[in-house]
Amino acid sequence: MTKTALITGITGQDGSYLAELLLHKEYLVHGMLRRSSTFSTSRIDHLYRDRHEESRLRLHYGDLTDGQALTNLVLAVQPDEIYNLGAQSHVRVSYDQPVYTLQTIGVGTLNVLEAARQLMRSKPVRVYQASSSEMFGKVLETPQTERTPFNPQSPYACAKAYGHFQTVNYRRGYDLFASNGILFNHESERRGETFVTRKITRAAGRIKVGLQKKLFLGNLDAKRDWGYAREYVEGMWRMLQHHEPDDFVMATGRTASVRDFCRLVFEQLDLDYEEFIEIDPNYFRPAEVDVLLGDATKAKEVLGWEATTTLEELARIMTAHDYDLALREAHAKRFDAD
Ligand code: NAP
Ligand code: GDD
Repeated sequence: MTKTALITGITGQDGSYLAELLLHKEYLVHGMLRRSSTFSTSRIDHLYRDRHEESRLRLHYGDLTDGQALTNLVLAVQPDEIYNLGAQSHVRVSYDQPVYTLQTIGVGTLNVLEAARQLMRSKPVRVYQASSSEMFGKVLETPQTERTPFNPQSPYACAKAYGHFQTVNYRRGYDLFASNGILFNHESERRGETFVTRKITRAAGRIKVGLQKKLFLGNLDAKRDWGYAREYVEGMWRMLQHHEPDDFVMATGRTASVRDFCRLVFEQLDLDYEEFIEIDPNYFRPAEVDVLLGDATKAKEVLGWEATTTLEELARIMTAHDYDLALREAHAKRFDAD
């Protein structure tokens, strides 16, 4: 029987890959998107262009902070699975907008859980909550597992910890099938351009073709466990196919610094990153998460999921994509000048 899924955050990096995966698995996919004065669907437009997929992808306006409208949507759509990926997801921005960040992530998650609780009265529903390795914050042990205590140190991480614990609470209190995916950083050619990996690959491509001279960054010594987003959405889906709800870390098990990533990317283009990078203290954070390193053994043993794309491959995929983008930008610029 055709399954129905509702994705919040469908226009984001993960939402777009998850929509693709679920459509491929013959789901009917509903996505909630925020009304915006400009189009925000560039990551999913290709799904509409494919006529076959179009019939199984439906978009609805909504906002995580509007609980009533969210409940109305959930009751109208009657999803078998809800993937709550919507969020103000930028850690640095969460210092500038702490209340809004809490509203979208903390209250937003509560709104999703409440809507699911309403739906549960008439049909079973499963909820995936996008938790984050950022909750480990100033880490209390390395590597981090599902048993590592959280020690959040950004408004974003505090909000995610709230959403995480409410998800556990609804599982225990109301018997809702609700699972947390504690995902470590995952990147791709669809990553937002203000996250550090994409900022680096975009800049390197533009520098190579002469469209940019410098790249301004903050802390080059921070270390992250970086995987490939395409693979991580498969893990989200597997969590909801498991016979019971639970919490799972998803990570590669390798950590590397921002500096390492710069080196890998610029090397792809035969450039020396040290010639182009300047430190701008504006990009430092009031409190930094120095090192994240995940242990995804549980996800491998229980769900059969593991990350396979190496950091080198990830850097290659993203660099090739953004070099091509820069070439097209340069070409368009020359064409405009003619
Ligand atoms: P992303 O690219 O920033 O996408 C975020 C999505 O949330 C976008 O579709 C955005 O819509 C939507 N959104 C923002 N505020 C909203 C609101 N008030 N109501 C409804 N939707 C709203 O993030 P991502 O990288 O795909 O990450 C997906 C989720 O996983 C997020 O919850 C993030 O915090 C979490 N996470 C990500 C990572 C990672 O490394 N990528 C790791 C751990 C956890 P617009 O397009 O309109 O902005
Ligand atoms: N964004 C950004 N921009 N980060 C920089 C820069 C810069 O110019 N220079 C250095 N960094 C450092 C940050 O200080 C941080 O230590 C690291 O690069 C990674 O920053 P981001 O790419 O912004 O990601 P993040 O780790 O803060 O958060 C991402 O991963 C979390 C999972 O751990 C986001 O996707 C979160 O939504 C996600 O939960």
